[in-house]
Amino acid sequence: MSLRLKVKERFGRKFDEEIRFFKGWMNNTRAVGAILPTSSITARRMASVVNPHSGLPVLELGPGTGVITKAILERGIAPAKLVSVEYSTDFFNQLKARFAGVQFINGDAFDLEHTLGSLKDRQFDSVVSAVPLLNFPMHRRVELIEDLLSRIPVGRPVVQISYGALSPVVAMPDRYSIQHLDFVVRNIPPAQLWVYRKAH
Ligand SMILES: C[S@@+](CC[C@H](N)C(=O)[O-])C[C@H]1O[C@@H](n2cnc3c(N)ncnc32)[C@H](O)[C@@H]1O
Repeated sequence: MSLRLKVKERFGRKFDEEIRFFKGWMNNTRAVGAILPTSSITARRMASVVNPHSGLPVLELGPGTGVITKAILERGIAPAKLVSVEYSTDFFNQLKARFAGVQFINGDAFDLEHTLGSLKDRQFDSVVSAVPLLNFPMHRRVELIEDLLSRIPVGRPVVQISYGALSPVVAMPDRYSIQHLDFVVRNIPPAQLWVYRKAH
């Protein structure tokens, strides 16, 4: 393929993703929680915490246009080993069409007992979350992180993207640890990445 066509294809797809994201944002600003799709740099940094050799599936929350989904697959996770929960039916339908074999679920990440259905007792390797936590009250954020930590082995990470200066979840050192993974300037808006692990 010529360079011109490659550039056209690449930017054409990026533009499509941005339009799709903008439509999702217009329809439901509270649920989308960002102004543009996550950058590929941020997505790769988040996916770097996943262990492709654990044999366990990975849980993704809020895949949106699929930038982070793509980075997780590129990390070496087989599509069938990725379970991804998206609240928006529009995003869900587009994700299913784009990423064959990934187990997308159209549902609420805050109600995983119900949303995961037959996978509710499954143990995951790690969790990669882009759910807009800051749009929810603190007690619900803490409940979500603790729920996620109960679904992965002790010591494995929940990585969360956020846009505030502080961890979106308050410190509870007896229950989980908080690590600041990165501050990615090449993201609009600049993104903070946080990692949570069970204390014991
Ligand atoms: C900031 S956007 C993620 C953007 C994504 N990384 C991308 O680049 O397209 C947040 C995503 O979380 C989804 N979301 C919001 N609340 C959710 C919930 N309770 N359960 C699952 N997904 C949710 C939104 O629909 C949106 O796709």
